Amino acid sequence: MTIHQTQPFDGQKPGTSGLRKKTQVFMQPKFLENFIQATFDAIGGAAGKTLVLGGDGRFFGAAAAQTILKMAAANGAARVIVGQGALLSTPAVSHMIRKRKTDGGLILSASHNPGGPNGDFGVKFNMSNGGPAPESITEAIYERTKTLDSYNILDVADVDLETLGTSDLGGMAVEVVDPVADYADLMETIFDFDAIRAMFAKGFRMRMDSMHAATGPYAVEILERRLGAAPGTVVHAEPLPDFGGMHPDPNPTWAKELMAEMMGPNAPDFGAASDGDGDRNMILGAGVYVSPSDSLAVIAANATLVRSFRDGLKGVARSMPTSMAADRVAQSLGIPHYETPTGWKFFGNLLDAGKCSLCGEESFGTGSDHVREKDGLWAILMWLNILAVRGETVAEIVSGHFRKFGRNYYSRHDYEALPKDVANALLADLAGRLDTLKGLSVEGMTVAGADEFSYHDPVDGSVSNHQGFRILFEGGSRIVLRLSGTGTEGATLRVYLEKYVAGPEGLERDAQEALKPVIAAVEKIVGIARATGRTAPDVIS
Ligand code: G6P
Ligand code: ZN
Repeated sequence: MTIHQTQPFDGQKPGTSGLRKKTQVFMQPKFLENFIQATFDAIGGAAGKTLVLGGDGRFFGAAAAQTILKMAAANGAARVIVGQGALLSTPAVSHMIRKRKTDGGLILSASHNPGGPNGDFGVKFNMSNGGPAPESITEAIYERTKTLDSYNILDVADVDLETLGTSDLGGMAVEVVDPVADYADLMETIFDFDAIRAMFAKGFRMRMDSMHAATGPYAVEILERRLGAAPGTVVHAEPLPDFGGMHPDPNPTWAKELMAEMMGPNAPDFGAASDGDGDRNMILGAGVYVSPSDSLAVIAANATLVRSFRDGLKGVARSMPTSMAADRVAQSLGIPHYETPTGWKFFGNLLDAGKCSLCGEESFGTGSDHVREKDGLWAILMWLNILAVRGETVAEIVSGHFRKFGRNYYSRHDYEALPKDVANALLADLAGRLDTLKGLSVEGMTVAGADEFSYHDPVDGSVSNHQGFRILFEGGSRIVLRLSGTGTEGATLRVYLEKYVAGPEGLERDAQEALKPVIAAVEKIVGIARATGRTAPDVIS
């Protein structure tokens, strides 16, 4: 074992989802090493532990995996289970941790951020329940990064990560596994593959865009091989270090090609995409886009059609900025619903305690208690299973849902790379005025209340403050503002817009049109253009 002297780096504080930085920052000598040693130290050392390791195939991932293996061995770990070629989607890591009962795992990904030498890289530690480390651990990691003065690493040749099987690395077992098989088997236990296969056999057409990221091999195996979707159903299926230049974020802005196909003539029946590490999803039907918030609500309303939820859902949880559509479904089903801060990690306690079985976020994340991460392909299979049972189109299912529950028109407007001080000043100004907003009449709506969201975890009693600003209008419309916790450049201001229409009239409008009064209210109440000089958002989803 070699002990290397080192010095702390600034800014190794994990954000919403692990430590994310520009790839070049991560590639600085000792930067990764420091963060990994701090992680090992913060979890009580790696000695004797079994860990899972894998990532989304992005640039620097394979080299980082080698460094981590050599560090794990030098720190006395017993075994590391690593995906072949260092590839494992995030939900597959979560499943592997749970299935093999390991002490946790490390995920090498910056999720939906572009990859490559000029893109982003990231490292995230997951716990033995398969979910992202809670704030107590990420804080401990950060504290450790500030005082670290050495790290341990073996000075040996790289490990062969292409050949399946177990080898020895300085007394530690390195087990290279097929990244897809266990995950695909898990999906077979959850869904009715026969029903979905029969639907494909009858000519149901689908397009899955894996965006040259982690889900490619999983989607080909599950959709084309096991479910019999036509060969070529999955496009951009090969994971590439730079995602083939794509921005692997499954939303209408970045999944342009898929959007064009699904909105065009001769669109397939169903379209879907997923992100860099495979935990996000976008759902489309021929001519229709299903917002993530609506997708969560539709899945909740139809869950009992799927085998694993036959006996009903325990509860539904959504992040605070996610539209309130799922709450209406939970109320009608008579099951609890929860509102958590942004970040999948906040669902972990609810899932572990058996309080809810379905979770979702507006940021294209949907999942359940089968793993402790959101799961893109799971959500896509959920839709396929529901479509197979109901025999209706996506458009029919969504319209029927709105007729029954009303519609929460929804959109998110992002202002990217704002100077941090400008964004902070804007929100500080709003914070100072929150108490004065109640009763304000704007754009024909009346403010029912405004606050800064704090979460009181009902399981462990922990409190998370400063989780975003909410302005609620009478009648169920809403504005939410918060700063992104995942951006790597300046500050990204997210503005979440929601307008509730009970129906039966006015359910089939264009979302941006329907939201016009809410958008105008943001400018009047918050004054983004005034404070930032930006007159339009950079990304609308
Ligand atoms: C990651 C997390 C999600 C979260 C999202 C929010 O993707 O896994 O759970 O919703 O970040 O990102 P933001 O940039 O809005 O903080
Ligand atoms: Zn992701």
